Amino acid sequence: SFGTVEDLPPEQRLLVRLDLNAPVEEGVVKDNRRFSRHAETVERLLDDGHALALLAHQGRPGRDTFVSLGQHAEILADHLDREVEFVADTFGEEALEAIDDLAGGEVLLLENVRMCDEELPEKTPEEHAESEFVRTLAPEFDAYVNDAYSAAHRAHASIVGFPLVMDAYAGPVMETEYTANSAIREREFDRVTMVLGGTKAEDLIPVIERLEGVDRFCLGGIVGELFLRAAGHDVGYDVESDLFDDQWDENREEIKETLETHGDRLVLASDLAYEDDAGERAEVAVDGVEKETSFLDVGSDTVATYADHVSESDAVFVKGALGVFEDERFSDGTVGVLRAIADTDCFSVVGGGDTSRAIPMYDLPEDAFSHVSIAGGAYVAALTGEELVAIEVLERDG
Ligand code: 3PG
Repeated sequence: SFGTVEDLPPEQRLLVRLDLNAPVEEGVVKDNRRFSRHAETVERLLDDGHALALLAHQGRPGRDTFVSLGQHAEILADHLDREVEFVADTFGEEALEAIDDLAGGEVLLLENVRMCDEELPEKTPEEHAESEFVRTLAPEFDAYVNDAYSAAHRAHASIVGFPLVMDAYAGPVMETEYTANSAIREREFDRVTMVLGGTKAEDLIPVIERLEGVDRFCLGGIVGELFLRAAGHDVGYDVESDLFDDQWDENREEIKETLETHGDRLVLASDLAYEDDAGERAEVAVDGVEKETSFLDVGSDTVATYADHVSESDAVFVKGALGVFEDERFSDGTVGVLRAIADTDCFSVVGGGDTSRAIPMYDLPEDAFSHVSIAGGAYVAALTGEELVAIEVLERDG
């Protein structure tokens, strides 16, 4: 077990790890459920008189989504309706001065923690605890709170380093998500469908391999196209982002192997949607693709097939979007599947940092889903029974 914020004495100086990783479109950070959920944590801690320095990440070096957290501070401030000071530094002089000036009931957000070289290499908690980053920040605080459930599967310095050198507690989002997602494993279902989409193939391949209890995996998004490409279809090339090629280069062999070994449980899209010259949604069967095309959604035959699988299931798990649902023209896949779930009384969990945004965006009834998670990779790690490193170090402390 681990300590929670209930166990904190009042008026502490706290270093709080959140996960504010969000979609970034042309440099603009988009609000997602992580902000509203973490805003509740911040509010609660401020009300108890604590002084808070928040740590969070955005994107990864080399990607378009790797940006400063200045905009995140503004979005969080909007949710809280109070000031969130942004400090463009993580553990240098500027950061230490701002932390020093911080009074009870005040909150600041430090710069993108992945801008610090020591954050990202996957290392043991002991090694991370020795980093200059951890050793500089830890003495400034009474305790560390980890609320970043959706990054709980990453053995990064800000996640696993601090609990070894200071008092550490799980935040309310960490606690609720961990409890809900762990409980899923205890349940038994007759017919289970999992809808897998989004961009991160490396997170999804182990899911397909390990979740033997899932009868059908319905694939979409960039991951779905990569599987179609591995199956010999002429798709999966030209999405306007390097993510696509990176994913193919890094995971090609594993994707082919997964397709060979688990093909009978995989349902791939039969048609895909793209933007035609007139700017309208157009669809093409995967066998009929004639030129390299940026596909933005699965097609309507595919949506119908996936909806059928959903309606025949007594449990449905969603991880990742089937298309670019933020654009209404390409929302049919993601929203169609969510609607099919809402129309049945199956047990359902919707995960994926961004996917859950589709629920309020398209006025889907949130109470039609058993659990809506803000996590992507951490949620599937929980489903597969993989120990979350963040929890493991919090338990050592508790
Ligand atoms: C997520 O968005 O799933 C988490 O913030 C982890 O991000 P990462 O996959 O870039 O480590």
